[in-house]
Amino acid sequence: MHWSTLASGLLSVAALVEGRRSLQHVGRKASIPTPAGDNYVSQYLASRQTVEHKFLNDNTTKYAVNGTGIPDVDFDVGESYAGLLSITDDPDAAEKLYFWFFPSENEKADKEILLWLNGGPGCSSLEGLIQENGPFLWQYGTFKPVPNPWSWHRLTNIVYIEQPIGTGFSQGNVTATNEEDVAKQFMGFWKNFIDLFSMQGYKVYIAGESYAGMYCPYIGSAMLDAEDTTYFNVSGLMIYDPVLMDGNVQTSYVTVPFVDYHTNLLPFNDSFSAQIHEKHQSCGFEDFTATYLQYPPPGPQPPSNVSDECANLWYDVYGAAFSVNPCFDVYQVATTCPLLWDILGFPGSLFYVPEGADIYFNRTDVQKAINAPVGTWEECASNNVFVDGQDTSDPSGYKVLPNVIDKTQNVIIGHGILDMILLANGTLLSIQNMTFGGKLGFEKTPIEPFYVPYHSLSTADTIGEESDPQRLATMAAAGVMGVAHTERGLTYVSVDISGHMVPQYAPSAAFRQLEFLLGRVSSLSDTTPFETEPEAPQSTEPLGNGTGPATFY
Ligand SMILES: *[C@@H]1O[C@H](CO)[C@@H](O)[C@H](O)[C@H]1NC(C)=O
Ligand SMILES: *[C@@H]1O[C@H](CO)[C@@H](O)[C@H](O)[C@H]1NC(C)=O
Ligand SMILES: *[C@@H]1O[C@H](CO)[C@@H](O)[C@H](O)[C@H]1NC(C)=O
Ligand SMILES: *[C@@H]1O[C@H](CO)[C@@H](O)[C@H](O)[C@H]1NC(C)=O
Ligand SMILES: *[C@@H]1O[C@H](CO)[C@@H](O)[C@H](O)[C@H]1NC(C)=O
Ligand SMILES: *[C@@H]1O[C@H](CO)[C@@H](O)[C@H](O)[C@H]1NC(C)=O
Ligand SMILES: *[C@@H]1O[C@H](CO)[C@@H](O)[C@H](O)[C@H]1NC(C)=O
Ligand SMILES: *[C@@H]1O[C@H](CO)[C@@H](O)[C@H](O)[C@H]1NC(C)=O
Ligand SMILES: *[C@@H]1O[C@H](CO)[C@@H](O)[C@H](O)[C@H]1NC(C)=O
Ligand SMILES: *[C@@H]1O[C@H](CO)[C@@H](O)[C@H](O)[C@H]1NC(C)=O
Repeated sequence: MHWSTLASGLLSVAALVEGRRSLQHVGRKASIPTPAGDNYVSQYLASRQTVEHKFLNDNTTKYAVNGTGIPDVDFDVGESYAGLLSITDDPDAAEKLYFWFFPSENEKADKEILLWLNGGPGCSSLEGLIQENGPFLWQYGTFKPVPNPWSWHRLTNIVYIEQPIGTGFSQGNVTATNEEDVAKQFMGFWKNFIDLFSMQGYKVYIAGESYAGMYCPYIGSAMLDAEDTTYFNVSGLMIYDPVLMDGNVQTSYVTVPFVDYHTNLLPFNDSFSAQIHEKHQSCGFEDFTATYLQYPPPGPQPPSNVSDECANLWYDVYGAAFSVNPCFDVYQVATTCPLLWDILGFPGSLFYVPEGADIYFNRTDVQKAINAPVGTWEECASNNVFVDGQDTSDPSGYKVLPNVIDKTQNVIIGHGILDMILLANGTLLSIQNMTFGGKLGFEKTPIEPFYVPYHSLSTADTIGEESDPQRLATMAAAGVMGVAHTERGLTYVSVDISGHMVPQYAPSAAFRQLEFLLGRVSSLSDTTPFETEPEAPQSTEPLGNGTGPATFY
């Protein structure tokens, strides 16, 4: 649960080509004003040439990564540390997790550390680093790695960790049977990490996506229960497109309304369309959704009890999607052929490594440069990371996520509307079956606008003319980009033009969500500029009710 394709990139190229044609035709140069004029990317790069390495000392030096020595990366990535660290008191224990830590240059990041986890289970958090929110990006179909002005380390200190054991470069035998075991492994590692970098007393923020909807709340809840603010002062949690509750409710129950909403991307023939609509009704999904996708909800949802045929409605649609779109990407349903080259091997639902291409983190030169053990690396482990492939824990939405909400009053659930591996309406239904702050679900309908500040990378600076390639590489949208809602310490936010991996598809949206998590802005409808571009002019018009599909029945 992790991969996908840069459809917005394809669209912008198409727009540019189209633009060039028509603009040349009328013989005029189009110039789009950019809010701040300056080259935002150059400013970002300059800020990475940190004079002083904040965390470099006798203890950490063996973990230091040479910022100009990362293969194929032709700019200085700046200060970072990576390597294996034990999960127990014994530094030489065979069980170790791999991490890559990027200190922030932001003064406000003092005494804060954010950890990022990808999902799977068994998928590497280096995916998040190199394709979602890290200091450099090498995304599907792109020519070479580029500096990422939307990198989360610009806001706070961030560490990417490959866990649980069995994932990526992490070492040791798989022994976890449930999320309690995962949290125990993680906390052992975390204590060593905090000691290594002398970060005792730091505020801890936890973020991740997909199956990390299990990992993050279980780890966060166990940390809070430990009542040890020296190591585990959890201050907020943010999960994207998360696994939260009943698997059927998060998929099959809400698949048909998803198909109807995205009808131009999933143009099924009449007989198939009639068949899935009939099932949606006869399986009781329509009634269930009409009853429970209400604010406040009428009561707790009975456990789902459906036939295999009904449970498979999602799979029926998934299978048919490939027949109308052979490159169908379940993580971002607006993706079309051709399949793009992906340095991690999964440009969407399909595994695709063109002849002559390598998997980036499977390269020995890369492994040596980042203090990783030399050997085979897979984006998502082909072996189980839970004993017998079975995570026996309850869904995180029952107890642990509510515990984190109640104790931190600072939890964000984000969701990309183009995601079909986990569906936004399923996430809303899951929230409506969760008890937090002593009540069930949200009481009010989510209709607030999610505002992403305007910034100097929100458009190409010219259309149909030569433009700065650094700008073009990391453009990102702005304005009202979805719906947001906060009650009793929990925020839900949707992002319309985003697939499963929100920081990858909508980097400016994720950057704003992180500012909110860190308490740097008051709400997700706040029109304060990004802290990285404080002078950028912002919208003064009314923002309306948000954009995208209805959040209610
Ligand atoms: C190095 O680690 C040791 C043991 O944890 C600690 O006592 C010492 O203060 C650390 N040194 C620095 C420079 O952080
Ligand atoms: C970092 O890597 C670059 C490129 O390989 C090399 O020129 C430089 O000497 C390295 N720096 C250190 C401190 O090893
Ligand atoms: C893993 O298990 C095998 C067999 O049980 C054992 O021989 C080996 O030492 C274990 N390895 C680690 C890293 O614990
Ligand atoms: C823990 O973090 C909270 C913010 O979440 C902060 O107010 C508090 O002072 C921190 N506690 C300690 C002991 O550092
Ligand atoms: C969610 O459900 C509502 C009510 O059925 C529907 O109007 C909306 O389009 C659905 N959204 C998506 C993305 O499926
Ligand atoms: C709703 O939550 C309750 C209690 O946490 C749980 O027993 C039930 O299975 C949930 N229903 C669904 C459909 O997830
Ligand atoms: C689930 O539904 C079946 C068929 O309707 C029924 O026989 C069974 O008792 C139900 N199970 C539960 C746990 O409600
Ligand atoms: C309609 O679509 C379904 C699902 O892809 C397929 O099985 C069926 O053959 C199609 N019917 C026609 C007439 O193409
Ligand atoms: C990864 O590298 C190993 C050699 O270390 C090689 O055997 C394997 O085929 C590579 N995997 C992929 C998918 O390229
Ligand atoms: C916004 O939502 C409110 C409450 O549902 C509704 O009264 C109002 O008409 C909506 N405004 C627009 C522009 O849709």
